[in-house]
Amino acid sequence: MIVNANNIEHAYYKVQLISAQDTYTIRQPVLRAGKPIKDCVFEGDNLKTTFHLGLFLNENLIGVASYMKNTNVIFSEDTQYQLRGMAILEDYQKKGLGTLLLQASKEKLTQMKVDRLWFNAREIAVKFYKNHGYKTIGEPFTIEGVGIHFLMTE
Ligand SMILES: CC(C)(COP(=O)(O)OP(=O)(O)OC[C@H]1O[C@@H](n2cnc3c(N)ncnc32)[C@H](O)[C@@H]1OP(=O)(O)O)[C@@H](O)C(=O)NCCC(=O)NCCS
Repeated sequence: MIVNANNIEHAYYKVQLISAQDTYTIRQPVLRAGKPIKDCVFEGDNLKTTFHLGLFLNENLIGVASYMKNTNVIFSEDTQYQLRGMAILEDYQKKGLGTLLLQASKEKLTQMKVDRLWFNAREIAVKFYKNHGYKTIGEPFTIEGVGIHFLMTE
């Protein structure tokens, strides 16, 4: 059953591991609108250390987030992960679903004993992450073809 974005309180949700391939159906419309599927493939998507989480509403995938073991030299911790490609389908945004996905991810990273989570956040998403306790570090920078980003971490 396709869940209506205006009536999600009657839907049940779950967060589970998905494949890199599965993320592309969400990455494409949300993060790479109008671009081909090949542009949705990130380097490292299929590494053994990478994992992808999907948020399902009534069995329909509506959100994704990818986590890659990636060291940023700015940080000193041994076990660092980078969040990439966090996206909720447009009709389902601003309903608290991104928060659910972020919380589930955080639990998994804690279980994995990851010492540092960091990511390059799009300017429009900075407020969302700040409301969840993350902070920006340094000056904004531009990722070609995508826009202005901020390095963020806990
Ligand atoms: C950023 C993103 C992942 C957040 O997911 P989301 O499902 O919209 O997140 P939430 O609904 O939990 O929170 C978003 C906002 O909606 C608000 N909100 C949550 N439930 C709400 C409700 N029932 N009614 C109204 N607003 C609500 C939250 O307070 C939050 O406000 P804030 O942005 O000022 O902090 C999502 O909007 C998205 O995919 N954006 C486009 C792609 C993108 O920018 N991805 C991030 C790349 S770094």
